Amino acid sequence: MRRMRRLRAPKIREMVAETHLSCNDLVQPIFVDERITAPKAIESMPGQFRQSLESLPAEAGALEDLGVPAVLLFGLPAQKDEVGSGAYDPHGIIQKAVAAIKETTSLIVITDLCLCEYTSHGHCGLIRGEKVLNDETLPLLGETAVSQAAAGADIVAPSGMMDHMVRAIRASLDLDGYADTPILSYAAKYASTFYGPFREAAESGYAWGDRKGYQMNPANFAEALWEVQLDIEEGADMVMVKPAMPYLDVLRAVKDMFGMPTAAYQVSGEYTMITAAARQGWLDENAAFLESLTCIRRAGADMIITYWAKEYARLGL
Ligand code: PBG
Repeated sequence: MRRMRRLRAPKIREMVAETHLSCNDLVQPIFVDERITAPKAIESMPGQFRQSLESLPAEAGALEDLGVPAVLLFGLPAQKDEVGSGAYDPHGIIQKAVAAIKETTSLIVITDLCLCEYTSHGHCGLIRGEKVLNDETLPLLGETAVSQAAAGADIVAPSGMMDHMVRAIRASLDLDGYADTPILSYAAKYASTFYGPFREAAESGYAWGDRKGYQMNPANFAEALWEVQLDIEEGADMVMVKPAMPYLDVLRAVKDMFGMPTAAYQVSGEYTMITAAARQGWLDENAAFLESLTCIRRAGADMIITYWAKEYARLGL
């Protein structure tokens, strides 16, 4: 008689495991704040910190020593304006941060490419009245990509969900001599409430409205495949599904359908739900994040952007 439990005995269970986690597949997000000189705790994300330009090399070095291969950088500029000039300033915070990490480590540096941390209104593009302008924003995204590549970014990751952003960025990079810089597109990015804690982390709350006009409706699946296909046609080298856990069906389909290198972003809210419960003693944080990462991999993610990358590496599993 078949008894499934035979293969669930200690050791055998590991031998027949279908999914394996590895440090090599994890990316640690880092927030770099131009206005601080020492690391500052992010209250909405227990255990996470904003780094200063001064503290960044040590943090990057620690990640490299632990075996984390890559970081995803977010910049918090000292000043914001209507047109998000800090995003494409060659001497902006993210450009300086990239250079600082590349000087002292050999980490893969991925830059988040969006205007929202740099605009005074907090939206991901230029605005007219309360409308976020798509086509007018594209040249600025191209310029931002070039400035990030010039600073040494290994991969640029556009997250603003503007239509044709990948095409515009590819064209700008190619024109300026960065034909070899890959684009990791936030291709299927949902208008998710799970980005809530990130708004404090990156101070990218918006003055009015929401992002539903450009990010996807959580109710939609087929549209995600369409978004991914368009980004691939425009030149994306890798595609992302974001958030991760509530969208595992999308992740599975994207991986199966396109076979592209596929990333999943386990976002701030996914992190905070587990850490908040753990702090109450209601969940085992390590067990919960290990299970969540395993399931995200099982659903098709080749790489996972996770706030637990460093912690995972520290466990030395
Ligand atoms: C910027 C951006 C956001 C996140 C990554 N890049 C916020 C948003 O789109 O509202 C969210 C990341 C997280 O919640 O961890 N466009």
